[in-house]
Amino acid sequence: MKILFSLLILCISYTLGAQNPDLPDDFLSKDFHKDRREQLRGILPTNSVAVFFANPVRNRANDVEYIYHQDPDFYYLTGYKEPDAVLFIFKDKQAAANGTMYNEILFVQPRNAMREMWTGRRLGEQGVKDVLGFEQAFNNTEFKKYKVDFSKFDKILFFDFMNDVRDNPRDSSDLYSMIVDFKTKVNYPDKNATTLAVEPQKNNLDTKGLASLMSKLRGIKTPEEIEMIKKAVAISCMGQVEVMKAIKPGMSEREIQGIHEFVFKKYQAEDLGYPSIVGAGHNGCILHYIDNYKPNVTSKELILMDLGAEYHGYTADITRTIPVNGKFSPEQKAIYELALKAQEAAMKICKPGIKRSVLTDTCRAVVNRGLIELGIAKPGEKHMYFPHGVSHHIGLDVHDRGDAMIEENNTIVIEPGIYIPDNAPCDKKWWGIAVRIEDDFLITKDGYEHLSKLAPRTVKDIEDLMKQSSIFENYSLPDIDKITQKKN
Ligand code: GLY
Ligand code: MN
Ligand code: MN
Repeated sequence: MKILFSLLILCISYTLGAQNPDLPDDFLSKDFHKDRREQLRGILPTNSVAVFFANPVRNRANDVEYIYHQDPDFYYLTGYKEPDAVLFIFKDKQAAANGTMYNEILFVQPRNAMREMWTGRRLGEQGVKDVLGFEQAFNNTEFKKYKVDFSKFDKILFFDFMNDVRDNPRDSSDLYSMIVDFKTKVNYPDKNATTLAVEPQKNNLDTKGLASLMSKLRGIKTPEEIEMIKKAVAISCMGQVEVMKAIKPGMSEREIQGIHEFVFKKYQAEDLGYPSIVGAGHNGCILHYIDNYKPNVTSKELILMDLGAEYHGYTADITRTIPVNGKFSPEQKAIYELALKAQEAAMKICKPGIKRSVLTDTCRAVVNRGLIELGIAKPGEKHMYFPHGVSHHIGLDVHDRGDAMIEENNTIVIEPGIYIPDNAPCDKKWWGIAVRIEDDFLITKDGYEHLSKLAPRTVKDIEDLMKQSSIFENYSLPDIDKITQKKN
């Protein structure tokens, strides 16, 4: 009976297996990932190997884990979205014991009928060969006995371990165990240390070099990646547009967040690139305000909304700041237009060959001048009204890898902000005004393509759109407190 049951589980699981008909068909192709590995191999130092570990599973509470998110470098190079895996990319061909020559090898979690019934399908060794196109792929149970003479390499490049991976005591080939085995294989000096010692290395371990190599690659987006990013950006713009039409005084910050995220899901975005920031009034002054707990946004407030849909791993990063009642007050308008002017000034100079820090300097000069003209800051005064830089790359990470110098096919943001908290040393009519305007750009040969222009940005365009009716207009649910009281 037990054998019959196991066979049944095995059948169900294998039918649900690698070739999954329910999956979207617009993921990056295996050729994309293969090409990325080729490109990395091309820039690896002579006689080296690069090693990448999958992200760990993180515990949320008791027996519940956080939704798994693959390490972006690992995903970029493999397309593999499961945990407990390690990838080796060799500069030169290696000979396996059976004489096979190979220059990359992937170890993945094995198929397991019972586990798959609880936590979902796995590709397993055969799946990564069939679906992801790896020639050398093995179950991670084989990793311990994988033999390469690591002492022969001039460099073994990997990202250092922060000792923050939990051991699953029931799995002797999980990520934790593979890291332990890897440390032994490569002669990692102090196996219990949090990081490799900072003193000059006497061995061939290099935990610093991979970041800049990956930045070189990931900063320049391929046409396939640009397509993904454009989709993520368009979806995120639609969230902003729908909220501009739907928002009303009395809604909660969380409800407004929910409208954005509903739109993301409606367009099949799997995830958020980062926790959504929806801050009304002075909450907007908290740069990464993700509590979103204010129960009633009020008519006179601005609301700052910084949200990015993640589509097939790629994220947008867009901020719009709008008046809850649909009309900017004179003070709100003055601050908003100053932030917009700063953004426009940066956009004007944004092209290959400019450093991203120059975009920040440009915005800062405009904002500082404007704040003085408005009497909010004094000449020469150090203030905290604009405490961040304005540009970073976007891609698989919201703050993506990429170089400081802007190049063709970068995807970057420009995001000036002005934040005037309550009790700031200026006229109190300005207190609680927080504005950030953040747009996404694809860098072209001599300028940029403005990817997020679907979401209105000028005062007039925002106010005009906010007059339009919304699909959420007649959307109401019973008062939950009344329902629960009735039941009691
Ligand atoms: N949403 C994070 C940022 O704007 O950088
Ligand atoms: Mn940003
Ligand atoms: Mn943002």
